[in-house]
Amino acid sequence: MSPGIDVAVELLRAGRLVAFPTETVYGLGADASNPAAVRRVFEAKGRPADHPVIVHVARAEQLAEWAIDVTAAAARLAAAFWPGPITVLVRRAPGVLDLVTGGRDTVAVRVPSHPLALELLTAFGGGVVAPSANRFGQVSPTTADDVRADLGDAVDLVLDGGPCSVGVESTIVDCTVDPPQLLRAGGIPPEAIAELLGPLDLAATGPSRAPGMLASHYAPRCQVQLTTTRAEAEHLTATMNGAGGRAELLDPGPDLEEAGRRLYSWLRSADRRGVDTLVVVLPPAHGLGWALRDRLMKAAAPR
Ligand code: TXA
Ligand code: MG
Repeated sequence: MSPGIDVAVELLRAGRLVAFPTETVYGLGADASNPAAVRRVFEAKGRPADHPVIVHVARAEQLAEWAIDVTAAAARLAAAFWPGPITVLVRRAPGVLDLVTGGRDTVAVRVPSHPLALELLTAFGGGVVAPSANRFGQVSPTTADDVRADLGDAVDLVLDGGPCSVGVESTIVDCTVDPPQLLRAGGIPPEAIAELLGPLDLAATGPSRAPGMLASHYAPRCQVQLTTTRAEAEHLTATMNGAGGRAELLDPGPDLEEAGRRLYSWLRSADRRGVDTLVVVLPPAHGLGWALRDRLMKAAAPR
């Protein structure tokens, strides 16, 4: 057993909060069947109670414990991509806490692939709710230090599994509708999902379907200005700095996987260095680029 797992399981059983690494971002974990523990997650994050949380489990077979109706689409996604960065939305089983689902009749479930997350979930046995381990509305943490910097004493233990290998949150697919709808672009590209399930409605994302999908989210303190070309970004950065600003250019570059791993640390680093405007070249709309564009557009939205 990796160091810390036994303590982490004891803490979860006692209703305490354990932050742990996943392949996407660090999660703030609590026992999904303990109302007091789930409430603590919302308090620690400063998150509104109507924002539901994802239930993390060790094995795909556990989906049936949380759902009353595992649709064919959900089963196919689980079989194809779990463990991995995709979350399926299914009708919830009767026992699932309202706190977990935000009072909705659906529940979001995923099996993460980070070895430490799997070890923790396997040893714990039950479901673990885990929103990203950051204060509500801010940039998700991709290292254990990010979690400590954001949540400090509000978390009882932080398991350190190194930097996250994907770096942006899981893709969320609503499997209760036909055809399934993409609620959040993420670690599994929509093209891979469409290849498996047929065409997806990419325009369906929005606050009405997934309460966490606010226009402004994933935001650093600095302003974010989007551009579509490097030349435009260079021009804008130079103009702003010429006028006495502290603008910096961020070009995620052609390697979208690498950009995914680094995106949130770029945003955090700009804040640490007192940058007031980050001028960003938007990545292309394919593969992981969909998720990167989504997060950057939310970071750039009016607050
Ligand atoms: O990659 C991830 O998914 C990370 C890691 C830790 O697993 N978790 C994560 O959780 O991003 P969080 O809470 O930051 O985002 C979960 C999103 C929210 O936007 C929430 O509204 C949506 O999932 N969600 C959860 N349950 C839902 C439900 N029943 N109906 C609609 N949306 C739901
Ligand atoms: Mg989050």
